[in-house]
Amino acid sequence: MTQKTPWYKDAIFMELNTRAYKDSNGDGWGDLPGLTSKLDYIKSLGVDAVWLLPIMPSPLRDDGYDVSDFCDIFPAYGTMDDFKTLMREAHLRDLRIVVEIIPNHTSDQNAWFQASRDPNHPQHAKYRDWYVWSDTDQKYQEARIIFTDSETSNWTYDPLRGQYFWHRFYSTQPDLNYDNQEVQQAMLDVVKFWIDAGADGLRVDAPPYLFEREGTNCENLPETHTFLKRLRKFVDIYSPETLLLSEANQWPEDVIEYFGDGDEMHMNFHFPLMPRLFMALAKGDRTPIEETLARTPDLPQGCQWGTFLRCHDELTLEMVTPDERQWMWETYAQDPKQRINLGIRRRLAPLLDNDQRKILLLHSMLLTMMGSPFLYYGDEIGMGDNVELFDRNGLRTPMQWDASPNAGFSDAPTEKLYAPVISDPVYGYQRVNVAAQQADPHSLLNKVRHLIAVRKQHTVFGRGDFSWRSFSFETKAVVAYQRKWEGTRIVVLNNLRGEPVKGWIPETAEKFIDLLTGETILPGDYTLTPYGFLWLQPVGDKANVPSGPNAPQPGYLGSDKQ
Ligand code: NOJ
Repeated sequence: MTQKTPWYKDAIFMELNTRAYKDSNGDGWGDLPGLTSKLDYIKSLGVDAVWLLPIMPSPLRDDGYDVSDFCDIFPAYGTMDDFKTLMREAHLRDLRIVVEIIPNHTSDQNAWFQASRDPNHPQHAKYRDWYVWSDTDQKYQEARIIFTDSETSNWTYDPLRGQYFWHRFYSTQPDLNYDNQEVQQAMLDVVKFWIDAGADGLRVDAPPYLFEREGTNCENLPETHTFLKRLRKFVDIYSPETLLLSEANQWPEDVIEYFGDGDEMHMNFHFPLMPRLFMALAKGDRTPIEETLARTPDLPQGCQWGTFLRCHDELTLEMVTPDERQWMWETYAQDPKQRINLGIRRRLAPLLDNDQRKILLLHSMLLTMMGSPFLYYGDEIGMGDNVELFDRNGLRTPMQWDASPNAGFSDAPTEKLYAPVISDPVYGYQRVNVAAQQADPHSLLNKVRHLIAVRKQHTVFGRGDFSWRSFSFETKAVVAYQRKWEGTRIVVLNNLRGEPVKGWIPETAEKFIDLLTGETILPGDYTLTPYGFLWLQPVGDKANVPSGPNAPQPGYLGSDKQ
């Protein structure tokens, strides 16, 4: 019996920040009703599921990843009723909503932490061990510091309690103690709360760090996987359609553990692939992509990779070697202000010199290579960033809807906006905005929309096997591969260089349909345009497709299994 394909395998995701999207009440902050009013736009892009950055109450010391109450809405974003309206309107449009949960830590303003730290608190006895406390700051010395620009230790002293507390991120984000069964249960209750509120999926923040053990780096521990399997079991029983989308920023060998035997997370982001797409593009050489895919294991049944180009965080360089990191910084972040922690805080368009050809080329690979793609709001129109803003906030500026004051984002006086709109001469809202690009058939928006529409016509992209093909373009500049699913085969060619590349289309079919233009391409000589790409569907297929002499060996990421 063939199993039903889960919805997330065919889905296009978009990540967005409620605060940045649309302000409905003129207070300068985006909110849930504002977002609801923009669902038609999101749908028109071809998006199937929206991942919302944290929407729970928070002092925003880590932009909402420091939660003060897991079961409510940040007041400026609206109410639970507004959330339910959003869900209803989204579902009416066949859109799904994925909510962020942050199991590893809370805000230090969270009532759980306040009770835990204060021996005189009436609920201290209950919450005393909900966090990781210690008399010394010398435990777990092998654990790395993640926010290297702002933290010098994973321990912070709390004078009220007279002990140190453990935190993997900011010192205002104490880690919960997962050795405490009540904490585990509390987090399952949070999950249940959001499923009951209608969420279609949960993006599970920072799962590798749930447990601590002496003598380890406190990441990916067996106890962590045991808890995540418990979480999955709960979801499978309570609401089996709910997606668990995991953010384990790890090497493929470690990430694979987060899928378990198909009994842990449904999806995880492919962090190592992302910087290598940028590396390959800047080098004009596919080798970095080949190397990372060679390390990428096949997934258990029902699981899926999440792929992305940019997100709300820095372009992370944690999953590259120190030499590669240095190279990436020198190539993509020459201004030291553009660097943060082990990454680069720039948006897609500025990283790619605002060159529409390069932006579309990366989208071509994002949409066809593997897994389910995640777009980041605003990148579809080529929004810019603002390195003057604190932390990663320069990547989270108001959505640019039109050329009216405040970019059509808000009616508030400009000085009341939660963050300034981008208004520089290149990326400013006066030039870069949805309204202008909707009207222009050659705009980035309309071209990205077209790529998404074509991807959605072919389930092979979300479900199919991957294998490399050289297709007679005997140069490392061309990233050529084949996707195959239930008798359908599609071949994709991407030219990483800003110059034409000559080759030929082999006679493995009578002819090919160029899926992006509808034109017919006959086997024979062919020149790929600078940064050009082709998505080809064979007609009159001659079953076995030979690889060219320089093609990397197929056999990983699922070779020609069928
Ligand atoms: C990963 C999130 O994407 C990031 O924004 C946040 O700062 C850390 N987790 C800590 O929650």
